[in-house]
Amino acid sequence: MRLNQIKCGDNIEVLSKLDSEIVDVTITSPPYRNAIDYSMHAEHGNNPKKNYRGKLSITVADYIKDMSNIFSQVHRVTKEGGYCCIVIGNEINKGTLEPLPALLVSKLYEQGWYLHEEIIWHKVTGGANRAGSFVQHPYPSYFRANIMHEVILVLRKGKNRLRKLEYAFTNINQDVTWKEIVNSIWHIAPVPPGFLEHPCPYPEEIPYRLLNLYSNEGDVILDPFNGAGQTTKVAKYLKRRFYGIDIQKTYVDYATSRLAEAPHIRDESITLEFESVGGSIPRWKKIPTRKVTSKKDFR
Ligand SMILES: C[S@@+](CC[C@H](N)C(=O)[O-])C[C@H]1O[C@@H](n2cnc3c(N)ncnc32)[C@H](O)[C@@H]1O
Repeated sequence: MRLNQIKCGDNIEVLSKLDSEIVDVTITSPPYRNAIDYSMHAEHGNNPKKNYRGKLSITVADYIKDMSNIFSQVHRVTKEGGYCCIVIGNEINKGTLEPLPALLVSKLYEQGWYLHEEIIWHKVTGGANRAGSFVQHPYPSYFRANIMHEVILVLRKGKNRLRKLEYAFTNINQDVTWKEIVNSIWHIAPVPPGFLEHPCPYPEEIPYRLLNLYSNEGDVILDPFNGAGQTTKVAKYLKRRFYGIDIQKTYVDYATSRLAEAPHIRDESITLEFESVGGSIPRWKKIPTRKVTSKKDFR
C-alpha cells in the first residue's frame, strides 16, 4: 500500500485489499448512526439551508453489525500489540439513549480486541442540551442530563508491545501532561460549528494526545473514517506515516489540502487546581498548553 495518502472509497472494500498486520495505531470516529447525512453535507457544505441532519434510517443492530465488520478488518490490518482508538458517544433516540459505545465495545471484545483504556472526552463548552424541560418542570422523572461527553475506546490487539524509549509530549507544558492527560477524563472543547468544512470533526487535541501516547515517529497510522482529516494532519505533523479513507471525495480533497497546515492545538488547557492549605473544593485553572520555553509553534 502507498502510505501518506487519503484514499477515496468504502473503507471495508479498501481495507479488505490491504495486507495483514501493517498498521500500528488507528484513530477514528465512526459516522453518527442516523444523525448526519454526509453525502448531503459533502454536496452542499455548511449551507444552513440544506439540512443534512437526521434523515437516514439504519437500525441500531445493523449499525453495530456494520461497525463490527469494519473494525474486524481494522483488527486484521493491525500489527500485534497495535491499538485502535474509537471516539463514539451514546445517541439520543426520542428521549432515550442508544448505548452505542457499550454495544460496540462488547462486539469488538468478542472479536478479539482488548479494552486497553477507556477515556471520557468531556466537551467542556458544548454538548446536547436535554435539560430544558427539567428547568421548566423541576420534578422527579423530568430530568434528562445534557450530554457533555463521548467515550474514547482504546482497543489493543494481542499483548502490549514494548515501544521505543522516546519521550512523549516533548512540546507540551508538563502540568498539562501530569494534571490532565494522565487522567481518564480529558477536558477538551469541541471544534466550533462551521470552523471546518465538515459537520463533525473531533478537535486536533484528541489525535495529538493519542498519537503521543500510543505511537512513535515512523509508525503507520490509519483513519478509516477520515472526514476533515484531523488524524492524518496531526499524524503528518508528528512525523508518523498515515493512511486515511473516506467515502466522500469532497472530504478526501479537503483533508488532503489540510495536510500542509500546521496543527491547531489550543494555547490554553484547563486543569484542576488543588490549594495546599484550606481549600476543600478544587478549582479549575487555565494553564498554557505549550512549554513556555518551546521554540516550536503549533499554529
Ligand atoms: C464522524 S465523521 C469522521 C470525522 C473525522 N474523525 C474528523 O475529525 O474529521 C465520519 C466520516 O466517515 C465517512 N464515512 C461514512 N461511511 C463510510 C464508509 N463506509 N467508508 C469510508 N468513509 C465513510 C463520512 O463521510 C464521514 O466523513
